[in-house]
Amino acid sequence: MNDMTIPNPAEAARVPPPAPLGMLAELTHRCPLSCPYCSNPVELDKRSGELDTETWKRVFSEAAAMGVLHLHLSGGEPTARKDIVELTAHAVKVGLYTNLITSGIGVTREKLEELATAGLDHVQLSIQDALPDTADRIAGLKGAHEKKRIFAGWVLELGLPLTINAVIHRANIENIEPLVNMALEFGARRVEIAHSQYYGWALENRRMLMPTREQVMRAAETVERLRDELKGKLVIDAVVPDYYARRPKPCVGGWGRQSLNVTPSGKVLPCHAAETIKHLKFDYVTERSLPDIWANSSAFEAYRGTSWMKEPCKGCPRKEIDFGGCRCQALAITGDPEQADPACSLSPFHAKIVALAIKDAAVDQTDYVYRRFGGVPDPRVTVTHNN
Ligand code: SF4
Ligand code: FES
Repeated sequence: MNDMTIPNPAEAARVPPPAPLGMLAELTHRCPLSCPYCSNPVELDKRSGELDTETWKRVFSEAAAMGVLHLHLSGGEPTARKDIVELTAHAVKVGLYTNLITSGIGVTREKLEELATAGLDHVQLSIQDALPDTADRIAGLKGAHEKKRIFAGWVLELGLPLTINAVIHRANIENIEPLVNMALEFGARRVEIAHSQYYGWALENRRMLMPTREQVMRAAETVERLRDELKGKLVIDAVVPDYYARRPKPCVGGWGRQSLNVTPSGKVLPCHAAETIKHLKFDYVTERSLPDIWANSSAFEAYRGTSWMKEPCKGCPRKEIDFGGCRCQALAITGDPEQADPACSLSPFHAKIVALAIKDAAVDQTDYVYRRFGGVPDPRVTVTHNN
């Protein structure tokens, strides 16, 4: 600003938001697996549009400088990037805690060793089921399950902390105990039992994935029992399924409050499904700096805090706790992202989401729409959204 510039009072009074705690770097949408619950967008970014190495490094430096603590190296499969070791080493150098979110497929032991040497802090490995055949069917790749077992062994040998992530849905919800036992057997310190969230490919597959309410209740009891039994041995995190909830979760910790996502092409999003809200304009790291986008991007400002809310959230004592739940789910079910998350029993659309869950859970259909490039659902099955 030169001496003659008179600051706009509204600008001058604006307090910049606190720095996010975590950043999800979707390095690539390429992946050897095709999980039908994938939260990646249905229109996946192509390899040709991915950010180059230097841009990612600059983004990591900016993230660290603005106060981000955790960097989640994700995708797709992040190790599909040839520069994954260089990127990890840079993130470590600038002081970020690095978490590799991986399928464990296509990663050699040598590559993992290079990552460990580069200073990688933590590995999060996804597993699809405890039964190999079901696991491979869900992943859409024969032999995937066995490869994951081998990969987990390398993680342990190299002394890297391991978390197992299992996305739960109709095909594996009865196997939570074997899944947790598998995490123990793999030497994990933590397991995430995360019920599928219905965005992206999971929304395309909702009728094939939705469990019944009875299954969800049994699963919750199993998780509680295992938490008690395994106290001190294994931490069990659980993400409950929204469609059967009474109160929503504070999705992404509140819009523009704690985290941000950078897509393979450099678009900065407040959450992984934000692009479904079509009127929002997202900024690219190739055009603006990360701190500028975090503080000033209209997409982050749109639902930051509580001033955008309407009733019932506006007058609700929980509005600073759950921030009205999930904007993307509100859009998907009600058509309006400013509605309360319909997972909330105070939402006028709550009965609709419960009815959808019950209807979908009763569908006897198991042909998944596998995740793939081109955004074209698998022609073997046509899914009509009934919301
Ligand atoms: Fe949360 Fe809004 Fe429901 Fe209150 S009305 S509990 S703020 S979603
Ligand atoms: Fe977008 Fe929840 S996924 S706010």
